[in-house]
Amino acid sequence: MRSLRAMGFLCPRAGTLCSVTESRMVPPPRVSDMLAWIDGSVLPLRDARIPVNDHGFLYGDSVYETVRTFQGELFRLSDHFRRLRTTARGLRIPIEWSDSQLAGWVEELRGHLPVGEHYIRLLVTRGPGEFSYAPDPSQKPTLMILGGPFQATAREVLEKGLVAVTVGIPRSVPNPRNPGLKTGNLLNSRLAYFEAIERGADEALLLTRSGHLAEGSSSNLFLILPGEVLATPSIESEILEGVTRTVLLKLAREVGLEVREEELSAECLVQAEEAFLSSTSRSVAPLRSIDGRELGCPGPVTRRLMDGFIRLAGGL
Ligand SMILES: Cc1ncc(COP(=O)(O)O)c(C=O)c1O
Repeated sequence: MRSLRAMGFLCPRAGTLCSVTESRMVPPPRVSDMLAWIDGSVLPLRDARIPVNDHGFLYGDSVYETVRTFQGELFRLSDHFRRLRTTARGLRIPIEWSDSQLAGWVEELRGHLPVGEHYIRLLVTRGPGEFSYAPDPSQKPTLMILGGPFQATAREVLEKGLVAVTVGIPRSVPNPRNPGLKTGNLLNSRLAYFEAIERGADEALLLTRSGHLAEGSSSNLFLILPGEVLATPSIESEILEGVTRTVLLKLAREVGLEVREEELSAECLVQAEEAFLSSTSRSVAPLRSIDGRELGCPGPVTRRLMDGFIRLAGGL
């Protein structure tokens, strides 16, 4: 894995190179191993091009989804399509392709990838246009499907747990776009992640504008509070409604856990006995500390949910 240090991230504050740790987060595939499907052609990702006047590039005017396979099957593809459409509607990007067309193109791309688990990113931008915010009915969205081999994190690494820190960058800025939309505007999350790695952590925990817990830079947050209560910020708490989060909440209820989806104060972090993050690429990732406070890792409840997830999805 290429270290973040080798990537030479610039420190947002000082404009100097950040001192960062090797990330324990699951790395997406290397660009050199990825392929792109654009307009019916499959080509190496590094040869893929979009026009500079694509509004996805000019204005961050794009939506995306990340999907992965377990044992060769795409996990919850229709949930990802649904969220892609919800986000596109929120941005008023017309998506004229049907789910079965999208699924067919994903399979076409996967047919060119080596056999094994796959990472797929669907990306729809508003498309090339004028340097103007004015709506242009003739503008055609661009669809890109990017894919590569997916390498799951080893169970031993997951079991050691990740380190998370709360950061000062809020999940949403005043007059926010809806944080529930999975758009190409990821700057708050990216800056929050930079801050976390500068502080030697693996993931940043962002708060809402009112100081409540929201989520990780690219993950949802779960806490286990005393009495085996599974608590997670509600979808009103400026979070993305993660596909993995939904799966885990259902699982938790099925195994009889008390589940609380509500506005959570930052003090809950101090009461938590266990905590974990969820996302497509990390499934269930236990946290071993938050802001330097050690947690049971993985504690008994997290372990039950990890095992339940493995039974459901076929892996972690
Ligand atoms: C901000 C944010 N929250 C949560 C998630 C987890 O969502 P999912 O489980 O659908 O991957 C992601 C995934 O990228 C994310 O970017």
